[in-house]
Amino acid sequence: MKNAIARREWIRQSTMALAATGLMPSLFAGETIRHPAPATTIRLHANENPYGPSPRAREAMAAAVSASNRYPWELTTTLREKIGQQYGLAREHVMMGAGSSEILGLVASFAALQKGNIVCATPTFSLWLPAARKQGMQVIEVPVTVGKEHDLPAILSSITPDTRLVYICNPNNPTGTLIASNVLQNFITAASQKALVLLDEAYLEYTSEPSMAALLSSNKRLVIAKTFSKIHGMAGARVGYALAHPDLIKQLTELQPWTDAGPSAVSVAGALASLEDLAFLDASKKDNAAVRDYTFNALKAAGLPVIPSHTNFLYYSLQKDKGGFLKTLADNNIRVGRVVEENGKWARVSIGTRNEMELYVSVLNKTFTI
Ligand SMILES: Cc1ncc(COP(=O)(O)O)c(C=O)c1O
Repeated sequence: MKNAIARREWIRQSTMALAATGLMPSLFAGETIRHPAPATTIRLHANENPYGPSPRAREAMAAAVSASNRYPWELTTTLREKIGQQYGLAREHVMMGAGSSEILGLVASFAALQKGNIVCATPTFSLWLPAARKQGMQVIEVPVTVGKEHDLPAILSSITPDTRLVYICNPNNPTGTLIASNVLQNFITAASQKALVLLDEAYLEYTSEPSMAALLSSNKRLVIAKTFSKIHGMAGARVGYALAHPDLIKQLTELQPWTDAGPSAVSVAGALASLEDLAFLDASKKDNAAVRDYTFNALKAAGLPVIPSHTNFLYYSLQKDKGGFLKTLADNNIRVGRVVEENGKWARVSIGTRNEMELYVSVLNKTFTI
């Protein structure tokens, strides 16, 4: 039985490697492996953790399925408590959402109760901005510097009397750059005197920088958005949360249709287990850093400008591409981010497993160095 499973796994892996090179039709299409997307697609476009969910989270989620007839309130309250403990905060400082994108949307809706504008960098994580615009908000976008870093002085001076929200993503998506914690702390102190600050720490666990959560005991105009979608490897489970002063959390939850009933009981059980699986989190961080270094060096060797990254993705310029690179990747079932900045043709690639990145690099080398 064991041999049969091992053999099957070997065949599956070999076939996936072949299929990924485009040499084989999808034998395993339809088989659920980790994700119902076709097994032959290499997903380097959504900054997912290729190793997750953690073993303990998988076990906990499987065990929680049979309790799905019950609402998740109690379990969610426990999760809020455990999350709070991580930051030395009470559960009243924590609010759950179906992914941190729900949190970003809620904060934008809250800000839009008083019409005005949002100040943020460009490029940054902007998925939630169209909904804010629909609610009457203007968006003031402040270009990143030549080195693709947040231009914090320019962001501060772009704040107007009508600014309701200042959004900072640290480290930033898609550029992968990091604001040092002392600099960020000063910025938050200054900006929050003028408007509500929304700090997105989706990728912070890939760095060694501390969360800004310590500021929350005194700062009532700061919301920190966090997620289980990245280093916890649970993007499909949809668990995110906000950290803020309890007064602000209370106002934000008033905009939620049903507080503590967003993420499913199965997802919440997985998140609780994942918080404890420190070995998995540590391995994800280390493996990501090693494969990121490999990919960074390959991009450099191919002569493409690339920004040093503090995340699980890299931002690089395709200006010297004649147009074939993204198409060849697509032809080989490798999905990557689109060109984000037309000027300079800057694009993003997520860091997958070593095998996945070797396939990406083989297309890179064929396109640029042969
Ligand atoms: C910076 C940032 N914030 C938030 C999100 C939303 O993630 P989720 O809704 O899965 O928590 C993403 C997703 O890629 C992201 O890159």
